[in-house]
Amino acid sequence: MTKINTTEKTFTEIPSKYCQIILTEDKPAWHRLVEKTDGSLEYRMGVGKYEAVTLRSYRTFIRSIVHAAKQHQLDRIAINLDIPAYSILATLGDELLFRTLGENLALAQYEFRKYKTTKKETAMLQEILVCGVKTATIKQSFSVGVTIGTSANIARDIANTCGEDMTPSKLVSATKAIFKNSCATVKILNKTAIKKEKMGLLEVVGKGANDGPNLIIIEYWGAGKSTKSKKTEAPIALIGKGITFDSGGLNVKPAGSMHEMHMDMSGGAAMIGTMHAIATLGIKKNVIAVIPTAENAISRDSMRAGDIAISMSGKTVEILHTDAEGRLVLADGMTYATKHYQPRVMIDAATLTGASLVALGSFASAVMTKDKELSDTLVQLGEETGDLLWPLPLWDEYLQSLKSTRADLSNIATNFAREAGCIEGGIFLSHFAPKKTPWAHLDIAPRMESNAHDKLAKGATGEPVRLLVKFIEQY
Ligand code: BES
Ligand code: MN
Ligand code: ZN
Repeated sequence: MTKINTTEKTFTEIPSKYCQIILTEDKPAWHRLVEKTDGSLEYRMGVGKYEAVTLRSYRTFIRSIVHAAKQHQLDRIAINLDIPAYSILATLGDELLFRTLGENLALAQYEFRKYKTTKKETAMLQEILVCGVKTATIKQSFSVGVTIGTSANIARDIANTCGEDMTPSKLVSATKAIFKNSCATVKILNKTAIKKEKMGLLEVVGKGANDGPNLIIIEYWGAGKSTKSKKTEAPIALIGKGITFDSGGLNVKPAGSMHEMHMDMSGGAAMIGTMHAIATLGIKKNVIAVIPTAENAISRDSMRAGDIAISMSGKTVEILHTDAEGRLVLADGMTYATKHYQPRVMIDAATLTGASLVALGSFASAVMTKDKELSDTLVQLGEETGDLLWPLPLWDEYLQSLKSTRADLSNIATNFAREAGCIEGGIFLSHFAPKKTPWAHLDIAPRMESNAHDKLAKGATGEPVRLLVKFIEQY
């Protein structure tokens, strides 16, 4: 890991072992590595006209600095931002700018080397030093950002791990380890407890696998837990899809679509990362995360297409397609959270459909909610944090496609049509959403993996941890 430090000093006051990053007004692709007469290095990098730099391009150039430092095998770099020169950024305030800097430096330094047996051929970037950090408030905002970025990296580690090494029970152990010395607590429902709670959908998805399903619950009472004498605020509920590997089940996925499905618990991993961040930061809010985890495996015990299962809510579901498993486990997770915690708002995140990628490409996740205010808030926070979201409707017109002949509901369109596949997932979940509580569904399949534009390591992105932390802080 790269150390990320701050100093009050400016470029002229720091040792020459740091390669100084000079941001110029050249085109963003332009760069030069210069060796000065005293032997020290200077990396000059174009960011375009300073006055045209937006929050979006700011995030990208922060990541590009780290990316370039790695490519040039620099071991120590120093950054000194002259914020007043960037007129658009300057209006946003130091708190947001230094938090964003911390988040994106932490995200950009991340690499996943768990399965590499050889040491890196190139020297590792050892340290990033941010100069000119003069006030305690700026330092604090920056360190909040680093904490959030690091928490997103925890989510990336979980998602990048193979299905074999991150089965449901291994995800349980990993979660317990993450929260071992934390003020957040972890509760687990094993297969027997899941049966006892009548979570028939989580049970049916997990029953084909050797390592059975679990329900992971993380509680964080930052605003104080309710007691008999004193009622505190109802919690925010986060529900994350925790499919540790998705083979598709008996409706098996084709080659080329299956190997990435060790990342199918990215929603659950993001909830773990988010809880880690808010517990570390000591945010004064009550938040619970519910992560139904299972492996969608193929065996003689797997659920069959056409099987009908009874959800925790009591509604019966015809499983027309065994590869639409995420919505099944989430549905029971949502019912569990509603029944046991009566939350004041509910957000779920899931790598739910390939159709979301067809709709949006790989730059934004889809947000679906009937609550206009919640939708606007989330889209706005996406823009602010970089975990971009774009809305799709949950209109009643779409309801009829899931009306099953034999059960209350089917898990895909009864005519097997593929149109509006992303919305269909949201519509299915809407049957299990709490009645009066605002609820939003995030289909994060588009952001499961990084793209070239991201300037991040290949693999998991850790989205939408940044967005959820900010949402919790301000809701
Ligand atoms: N986990 C997949 C969705 C997915 C696909 C995530 C690609 C990330 C990248 C999900 O469980 C799934 O298989 N969905 C099906 C739904 C269909 C059967 C209605 C899909 O997208 O094909
Ligand atoms: Mn699937
Ligand atoms: Zn899946």
